[in-house]
Amino acid sequence: MKTRTPISIYIALTFGITILAFEMFAQDSGYFSSVYFWILLVIVNILLLIMNSIGDLVENQKFAKLTEVEKKLFLAEKTTPYFVRLWSSAFKKQSQSEEKDLLIDHGFDGITELDNSLPKWWIGLFYFGIIFCAVYLLAFSFTDYAHPEKEYQKEAKMMLASIAEYEKNAPQINLENAVYNADHIAEGEQIFKTNCVSCHADAGKGGIGPNLTDKHWINIKEKSLFKNVFWMLENGSPNNPTMRPFIKDGTITGRDAEKVAAYIYHINQEQNPITEAQGGAAPQGEIANWEK
Ligand code: HEC
Repeated sequence: MKTRTPISIYIALTFGITILAFEMFAQDSGYFSSVYFWILLVIVNILLLIMNSIGDLVENQKFAKLTEVEKKLFLAEKTTPYFVRLWSSAFKKQSQSEEKDLLIDHGFDGITELDNSLPKWWIGLFYFGIIFCAVYLLAFSFTDYAHPEKEYQKEAKMMLASIAEYEKNAPQINLENAVYNADHIAEGEQIFKTNCVSCHADAGKGGIGPNLTDKHWINIKEKSLFKNVFWMLENGSPNNPTMRPFIKDGTITGRDAEKVAAYIYHINQEQNPITEAQGGAAPQGEIANWEK
């Protein structure tokens, strides 16, 4: 008589397969915190326990009919832990007499071969593969499962939502509390490329808007260069509406302005100006003496 697989293994497998199925078909439903998911698991476990009790009854009936030697063998096997049993059954050697039963004789060429059955773990994996294939195909055809584009869109949406949430709660940066930070230069450059390059040209060398790398400034509203740029972004140019109030009209946030102002400080104060000879726009306004 064969020993049965313990109920704990069935329960663990059921749990794993249920989670796998939910992950594939309903990964966004928050199933893990849903009561129904847990009720389903409880029901399935109750069914498993019932099946196990029936199995126990059948086993007892069969056990009563065994001979004394068979009973001893069965009990010995039953007390060995499941995984030890599994391991040794995977590597069990056949006895000579068992091999005789499996032997196929080709006859015509004198070659004999053993007609072993495939290992259990191999067959298990094979069937699991086939079933998983079908489930995967269904999930792929009828749900968003494993569609990289959909996953990307979903994540991008989530990120944007969390950025919006952050912006809502984070303290706003304004002219008073904005500070220069060298760590902002690289990010500021990206913001500049998106919002400013159309008028102020590459690296701020000037085009429709003035050259931002030289010492000449049209608008001098603040004592420091960094704050002056922030002022311009907040208010726009008082004499030329082409330079819009980017913060006030909601194109960029105060946080972005702090970064782009750091970038402009960097190209104006920490790099050489791009002169007319190098393709920069001609100086406009007066020479500014910025405070540090
Ligand atoms: C649509 C064109 C345009 C865009 C886009 C633009 N600017 Fe300007 N900007 C101008 C013009 C034109 C002026 C000159 C305003 C004036 O004459 O007072 C100016 C002036 C400035 C000044 C003051 C320069 C000075 O000499 O007084 C700063 C600083 C500045 N812009 C920064 C930016 C930044 C940073 C961005 C991107 C967020 C940006 N600008 C986007 C057109 C633009």
